[in-house]
Amino acid sequence: MLTNHLEIKDTCLFQDFEILQNLINFRINNLIQKDQKELIPENINFTVPDDSPYGRIIQTHTLTALERITLATSLAPTLYPGLLDDLVIQCESKNHILSYVGGITGNTKNYHGLIPTIETVLFILAGDDAIQRIGLLKYFHTNCKLVQHNLIEFFNPSPIDPFTSKAVLPTQETIHFIATAKSFKPEYTTSFPASILESRQEWSDLILNEKTIEEIEEINAWIKHGKKVLYNYGLSKKIKLGYRALFYGPPGTGKTLTAALLGKANNLDVYRIDLSMVVSKYIGETEKNLANIFNRAERQNWILFFDEADALFGKRTQAKDAHDRYANQEISYLLQRIEDYPGLIILATNLKNNMDDAFTRRFQSFIHFQMPDHTMRLDLWKNSLPIEMKLDEDVNLKTIAENYELSGGSITNVIRYVSLMAVNREDFILRKEDFIKGIAKEYNKDGKTLP
Ligand SMILES: Nc1ncnc2c1ncn2[C@@H]1O[C@H](COP(=O)(O)OP(=O)(O)OP(=O)(O)O)[C@@H](O)[C@H]1O
Ligand SMILES: [Mg+2]
Repeated sequence: MLTNHLEIKDTCLFQDFEILQNLINFRINNLIQKDQKELIPENINFTVPDDSPYGRIIQTHTLTALERITLATSLAPTLYPGLLDDLVIQCESKNHILSYVGGITGNTKNYHGLIPTIETVLFILAGDDAIQRIGLLKYFHTNCKLVQHNLIEFFNPSPIDPFTSKAVLPTQETIHFIATAKSFKPEYTTSFPASILESRQEWSDLILNEKTIEEIEEINAWIKHGKKVLYNYGLSKKIKLGYRALFYGPPGTGKTLTAALLGKANNLDVYRIDLSMVVSKYIGETEKNLANIFNRAERQNWILFFDEADALFGKRTQAKDAHDRYANQEISYLLQRIEDYPGLIILATNLKNNMDDAFTRRFQSFIHFQMPDHTMRLDLWKNSLPIEMKLDEDVNLKTIAENYELSGGSITNVIRYVSLMAVNREDFILRKEDFIKGIAKEYNKDGKTLP
């Protein structure tokens, strides 16, 4: 039982449950005895939020008394099932009509308790006081912070029922955070065609030419100070909040890696969306799925990384005339969301020339990822050498770097190959002939032969 755990009992979550319980008792008694002194949730002494996940939610989102009670009510069926059952039992035993209390019972197959609705929350917060209820209704209907901040959601089992019949549910993100103290990272599904992009590499592993680094630093600066600059200097009314960057350049030059590292360095999640997938496979569903990604992303300040962005402008340029081009509803929808996104969006492509003006105007920066020159290649070779393996005496990385034009991605592939051979032989020595074979394999991929 929850109540037997001292540590849990001491958390502000449990204390909010107790306040909720007291409020429920008060409301029910108040239905019978009208003359009781009014209990105003704002006057209740709430405990200072602690360091528990629930406490951190309260602090981060600066939740008010009303919001704390609403959130606790939404969490009750999951964390303290008996609490809301009381509401039904007491009401029934006192012959009071359940419509006061709202809530969904018996409608779900697998849950036997009461699921709170907006009605339930109104009852708990305002009893039958019409004026207070209208104020609260306005809050829930128009600018409910708990919904805007993705802490709860309203679910309508039947569209003809009144607004107040919507179930008040904690979001998946809230449940996950309370259970694990970590933010929820959704997985790739057909309705959520995005996956988190992570890298074990570090910023110092990134080898780029100076100009590219400078441009990447500008993005870093925007992540750190962009919003501050817009707000503090009154620019936010004139300038769109977000930042859109296009990374272009040959395969394996570090576009994806850079996107992942920008997130890692700034403690932001990066989600990768494969445009060719979204645009081609989910016709009809595209808008819904994209909305799903963008809404979550906005709430959680993700960096969005659109790989193979050519699918986007490729499709536009294939069309015959201007009218045709913009007629594609899905693309327009996506462009609009990209344009309105308040955070960082990175699009990556191998081909830049296909882009039209309407498209290019939407970007704050175009960053060219070039093939590395021989000094950069040498750094790439050195950086990717496996630990606890030795280079054979006749392997000269400098000469290899000078002689073979390879991208960072190809160099990683060659290293993987020579390491595998070394492990296979069990001598753990990286041999020259394997380097040559590995490099030849990379050349072959591009239809080239060794120089
Ligand atoms: N500039 C670089 N600095 C350090 N490592 C690099 C660099 N470029 C590529 N690599 C290595 O190659 C791997 C593949 O690179 P990445 O996936 O970032 O290339 P990309 O430009 O996104 O290619 P594509 O256009 O094919 O998507 C990286 O994970 C990294 O190990
Ligand atoms: Mg890539």
